[in-house]
Amino acid sequence: MSNELATRSGAGSSAVSVKDLRKNFGALEVLKGINLEARKGDVISILGSSGSGKSTMLRCINMLEVPDGGEIRIGGELIELKKTNRGVVPARQAQIDRLRTRASMVFQSFNLWSHLTILENLIEAPVHVQKRGRAECIAEAEALLEKVGIADKRHHYPSHLSGGQQQRAAIARALAQKPDVMLFDEPTSALDPELVGEVLRVMRSLAAEGRTMLVVTHEMNFARDVSSEVIFLHKGVVEEQGPPDVVFNRSTSARFKTFLAG
Ligand SMILES: Nc1ncnc2c1ncn2[C@@H]1O[C@H](COP(=O)(O)OP(=O)(O)OP(=O)(O)O)[C@@H](O)[C@H]1O
Ligand SMILES: [Mg+2]
Repeated sequence: MSNELATRSGAGSSAVSVKDLRKNFGALEVLKGINLEARKGDVISILGSSGSGKSTMLRCINMLEVPDGGEIRIGGELIELKKTNRGVVPARQAQIDRLRTRASMVFQSFNLWSHLTILENLIEAPVHVQKRGRAECIAEAEALLEKVGIADKRHHYPSHLSGGQQQRAAIARALAQKPDVMLFDEPTSALDPELVGEVLRVMRSLAAEGRTMLVVTHEMNFARDVSSEVIFLHKGVVEEQGPPDVVFNRSTSARFKTFLAG
């Protein structure tokens, strides 16, 4: 891409910036000063063993957990926090609601609303949080369901879909918010092995479109092939970080090698 094009499309500008992120649960220090920079178009794979703090990090980025320290910026905008005698809280709830739709999350267990049809799941946040026109949202939702290959399921309830279909619906729901960044927390870990491929295919196509993605995953082929950067967390600290060929082929971290072997 020429520099001019890169500037025009916004490639290279900051999508998510995390500085010295800290989070404790009681006496347990879960994140001990995490730094991360995602530019527009980056796909960052986050690896680490169970309990290393991967989910907590993603949940802090879209404010499902309030950090105890550090700074998070989404598209350059600082999430404003304030200290109270109850601990750290968001300074302005309206900012949190707005930023949460700009960094939308796909969960391991899909988290679709079971009492809403697939189409209703997709239009819920665009209509009620983003206050966009219902007809426009329905048209966009139908196009997204087409894109992830489940247009025929739009009037079904989540429980009538397979796990792979539910996760593709959850991805479409995240896309319906027109996010700047997509956060994936082990999106294929709850799926039967034969359903993993259909979800990874959708994620690969999103990466190829230039979407900015932070992906917690155990799918090493995805991390190797698709990521612009890999981050390996160990006990709440970034132990390894860099382009996948460097991290996978030249890491000297014994902990990372043990993780890969495990
Ligand atoms: N709400 C919570 N209250 C108390 N402790 C928590 C809470 N959420 C997470 N933890 C603890 O924080 C640590 C990090 O958890 P986290 O879910 O971020 O790990 P993870 O790397 O995502 O692990 P996994 O691969 O198993 O999903 C764990 O010790 C966990 O028990
Ligand atoms: Mg987790």
